[in-house]
Amino acid sequence: MSERLYIFDTTLRDGEQSPGASMTKDEKIRIARQLEKLGVDIIEAGFAAASPGDAEAIHAIAEVVKESTICSLARANERDIRAAGAAIAPAARGRIHTFIATSPIHMEKKLRMHPDQVVEAAVAAVKLAREYTDDVEFSAEDALRSEPAFLCRIFDAVIQAGARTINVPDTVGYAVPYLTTEFFRQLIAGTPGSDKVIWSAHCHNDLGMAVANSLAAVLGGARQVECTINGLGERAGNAALEEIVMSVRTRRDVFDLETRIDTTQIVPSSKLVSGITGYPVQPNKAVVGANAFAHESGIHQDGVLKHRETYEIMSAESVGWTQNKLTLGKLSGRNAFRSRLHELGISPESEEALNNAFARFKELADKKREIFDEDLVALFAGTDNDPAIDRFRLVSLKVVSETGEQPAAHLVIKDFDSEKPIDALGSGPVDATFKAIEAVAASGADLLLYSVNAVTSGTDSQGEVTVRLSRDGHIVNGQGADTDIIVASAKAYLSALNKLCSGTERVNPQL
Ligand code: KIV
Ligand code: ZN
Repeated sequence: MSERLYIFDTTLRDGEQSPGASMTKDEKIRIARQLEKLGVDIIEAGFAAASPGDAEAIHAIAEVVKESTICSLARANERDIRAAGAAIAPAARGRIHTFIATSPIHMEKKLRMHPDQVVEAAVAAVKLAREYTDDVEFSAEDALRSEPAFLCRIFDAVIQAGARTINVPDTVGYAVPYLTTEFFRQLIAGTPGSDKVIWSAHCHNDLGMAVANSLAAVLGGARQVECTINGLGERAGNAALEEIVMSVRTRRDVFDLETRIDTTQIVPSSKLVSGITGYPVQPNKAVVGANAFAHESGIHQDGVLKHRETYEIMSAESVGWTQNKLTLGKLSGRNAFRSRLHELGISPESEEALNNAFARFKELADKKREIFDEDLVALFAGTDNDPAIDRFRLVSLKVVSETGEQPAAHLVIKDFDSEKPIDALGSGPVDATFKAIEAVAASGADLLLYSVNAVTSGTDSQGEVTVRLSRDGHIVNGQGADTDIIVASAKAYLSALNKLCSGTERVNPQL
């Protein structure tokens, strides 16, 4: 039997550190449920000490997700460890992941600590974490720029203190694959007690080598990889889960390892994360890009038609690409709606939330003959704002766009309880709409990103719009979906504004 490779997903922690990718508690729960369905072994659900919101989200995920281990990050200090311990308390299996930097540059310039003090802090953190759970992971931040001898010393000490997983992060994406393999071999050979722990790789993609380095670490003895859906993460991102899993599966001859991942859940996971964070997937992205299985050249098409394996090393179906699936229609009832949502991993929080979603579904079914799974998922785009605290709502919208005339928008916006009619001109209908909203909101926010995606094929598809706004260093994403992309745009802009106003945005915890 092949050995096991553990998949540790950090989309909800390192992934969330991408600018504007911050998520609400409900969004995090939705992603965590999908990760559980995907078969992820460990879900790093957040960084409990970063904010009360993060701690609450980890706690809520620990309550509902039972098949995956739920983990919180913690710096090597008492406050962080206690916050992490409290957050993972309801988990069936909970892990504390504590870290401290070990490279000379980080210890001297950032921590201003002597290496002996770093070892002491790491040991104390692991011992304290063990009071909350047996499952403690230790990371040596910036390990790939650290001295191997010092790493062996600190790893020996934390293993004796009770760490069960030793993570070796390439924090700045500096590593080169063949050296990474050697580095892992050297650490495993040089650390007393190395056979009692699982060795783990955590690679960033600054030089585009995060997946290659993760796989190189596996060849050097790592049996856990830390990764994110779509490679989301700080700066250039983390190693992409889908690429690692499919490499190990497709090249079993090289790796001879098993994962617990249900690969048919890869594309649904990718779409969910992209939809919620507003980070689109590039069309030529491996495994989950729209073109990953598209054959344009005649020679390739001919080959695939004759024998698929001539040009395909894995099948589109094996990673979850399906034809748009027709699910519900205009006459479908509430129960069919509820059970399809359940199958898609969407559970409205209350009966009232279900009723509201059902009303939106009926409205959509009036406009669009065929409703696909993707439409149902999009029904929930931008609805995670709390209506009780939402300041702005769209009451109505009319735009006039005519050749040779400047586009004009007339909107009625509810600001708290008062309805405000407003007119604006713009260089296009979306521009006019945003100007009208800003004339009411006067938010002073900068628009960082505006993107539209067709949810399904066909001209009656819903457009899913993402708007990213920034104000005073806070970045938020808003989303909206509608068959009318101007309405979707207005909803997305208002959703982002409501997040800015309610302060649900999260400041990058590691800054
Ligand atoms: O990149 C990194 O070093 C990290 C650690 C906290 C594991 O994310
Ligand atoms: Zn990281």
